[in-house]
This record gives sequence, C-alpha cells and structure tokens, in this order.
Amino acid sequence: MVDTSDEWITTRTGIKERWICDENESNSDMSLAAGLRALEMSGNKPEDIELLLIGTVTPDKRLPSLACVVQDKMGLVNATAVDVVAACAGFLTGLSMANAYIKAGLFKKIMVIGAEKLSSITDYTDRNTCVLFGDGAGAAIVEASDGDDGILSIYIKSDGRHKKLLWIPDGGSDSPAHKINSLNGHHFDIIMNGKEVFKHAVRMMADASNRVLADANLKAEDVNVMVPHQANIRIMKSTAKRLGIPEEKVFVNLHKYGNTSAASVPIAFDEAVRSGKIKKGDIVLMTAFGGGLIWGSAVVRW
Ligand code: COA
Repeated sequence: MVDTSDEWITTRTGIKERWICDENESNSDMSLAAGLRALEMSGNKPEDIELLLIGTVTPDKRLPSLACVVQDKMGLVNATAVDVVAACAGFLTGLSMANAYIKAGLFKKIMVIGAEKLSSITDYTDRNTCVLFGDGAGAAIVEASDGDDGILSIYIKSDGRHKKLLWIPDGGSDSPAHKINSLNGHHFDIIMNGKEVFKHAVRMMADASNRVLADANLKAEDVNVMVPHQANIRIMKSTAKRLGIPEEKVFVNLHKYGNTSAASVPIAFDEAVRSGKIKKGDIVLMTAFGGGLIWGSAVVRW
C-alpha cells in the first residue's frame, strides 16, 4: 500500500508482524479476552472486581466509555468502570490510579486493562505511521497486600506543549466528524512527527525510570527485567543504555505485535511472566511514553 520494504521496517523499528482486528472484532472483545485471562490467572471472579480502569484512545464508541462496555460484557456487576486517556502510557497511568485508590483504602481489587484497536485510527497511506501500529489488549489485577511485593514506586508526567507531535487533528468536539470536510478523512487518523517523538521518548522514559528507582532505593543493577513500551527497538535499546541496564534484561516482543499503544506494556508483562522470564521476587521496571506527551515508569517486586 505504501513505498516501504521489510528491510526498512525491520532495521528502523524492529517490527516483523502486526495483528489487526477483522471487521467483526472490537476493542471490547479484545479487552474481554485479556480481562478473563487475568481473572483466571489471579483466581478472582468477575464480581470480586470493584473498579475497572481501561487505558485506551480507541473505545468502541465515543459514549459510553470502553470500560462500561467491557464491564457489561465481563459481568463486573460490583465495579465502577472508567476509561483513562493517556495514549501509550494509558496502562501505566491506570496502574498509578489503581495504586493510589488502593493506598487510600477506597477499593481492594482493581482490574487495569490497556487496549487499543489502532487499526481504526491508522492511515494506511501514511508510511510514517502505518508500519508501526497493531491491535491488542492486556490486563492486570491489582490487589491490596501486606507483603513486600507489588508496586514499589510509580511516577507519571505529561507535557502538553508537545501535543501536536502525535495527535488526531479532527473528530473531537472542536471539529466534529459530521461538521467538517477533513482532508480525505485522514485527519481522523494519527499524525506523528516520528523523529521528535523519538528524541523525547528516550529522555523522558530514562528520567521517569531514574525517579522510580531512586524513590524505591534501588539502582539500575537491581533491575532483573525491564518491560518498556514496545514502540521501536532503537528507542528501547537507547533508553536501557542510558539507564545502564544491559540489553539482555530488556523484554522485547515488539517484533511480534508492533506498537499496540496502551496494550503494549501489559501484553509484554504477561508474556514475560507466563514464559518464566519474570520470576517470583524479581524487580521489574516498566516504562512508557505516548501522545500528549505523557510518560511514566513503575518499579514492582513480582
Ligand atoms: N518505509 C520507508 N521509508 C520510510 C518509512 C517507511 N515506512 N517511513 C519513513 N521513511 C523515510 C522518510 O521519508 C525519510 O526519507 P527522506 O530521508 O527521504 O526524507 C527516511 O525514511 C528517514 O526518516 P526518519 O523519520 O528520519 O526515520 P527514522 O529513523 O527516524 O525512523 C520512525 C522513523 C518513525 C521509525 C522513528 O522516528 C520512530 O520510531 N519514532 C518514534 C515513533 C513512535 O514511537 N511513536 C509512537 C509513540 S507511542
């Protein structure tokens, strides 16, 4: 569809495969599948969940929230359900909210999902973006605990001055879809300044990661596994290098899924746990950045 090559995509991004929903599959279907697997793994029932937070910029509908649709599909009858709009940092932002709610004693069991149907907002004539993005969902359940495991430190930051580096110009309330004559419809899709995003991403993720490590009284060498947002292999390697974390500790599944935005960190974390890469007691550093710009890091003991 565009002037590109497997060689260019592989060497510049590290991506080999991406998965795209078919026309009958929705973001809520993917969220449901991920959420059910998290319930099964943690031994919880749908009625145990008190809050559902979903990081997404691609809800099934503008209204209601994706979280309310998923609440209904999953039968989370005792939950409050809310979307978190923080682009690729959506899962970590949801995790930071879950952490705060639990610490405040407001909820005891919270499901956090990161889920995106990016194929619905990707312009497949724009080679700057269409080779990068895929669809997917990942889920976690966060519970109150007295042990020394869990979230040791978490930090989220944004800088709205960079709002046009990665954005969707039209379709919001200041230029509603039915009222504007958008440029061939493609201003309803993601537009990105890749080079600028790249530069900020490395600096921001390294800064946030240094903060959470210092806050948890840890050093880079204490990290057993780093689970970064899977956007570009060069971004992941540069960030790890800046932090002094060796490449072999960085979990990579980007080649299999591309950039799935808010879904990328929970999908990677899940694969790292199920494959045995993350073991009980390991110190795991997660980090992500995305359109806003918004970014953050979390350090957990698994
Ligand atoms: N296939 C072939 N050529 C492509 C291409 C593609 N898919 N996309 C861009 N190019 C071209 C450009 O047009 C440019 O050509 P020119 O030199 O003739 O102008 C050349 O490749 C280099 O482009 P550049 O933008 O400098 O490439 P890059 O090395 O910065 O890689 C990205 C581009 C998008 C892969 C990279 O900048 C990136 O990953 N940025 C971060 C994006 C990101 O993570 N976004 C999501 C945030 S959550």
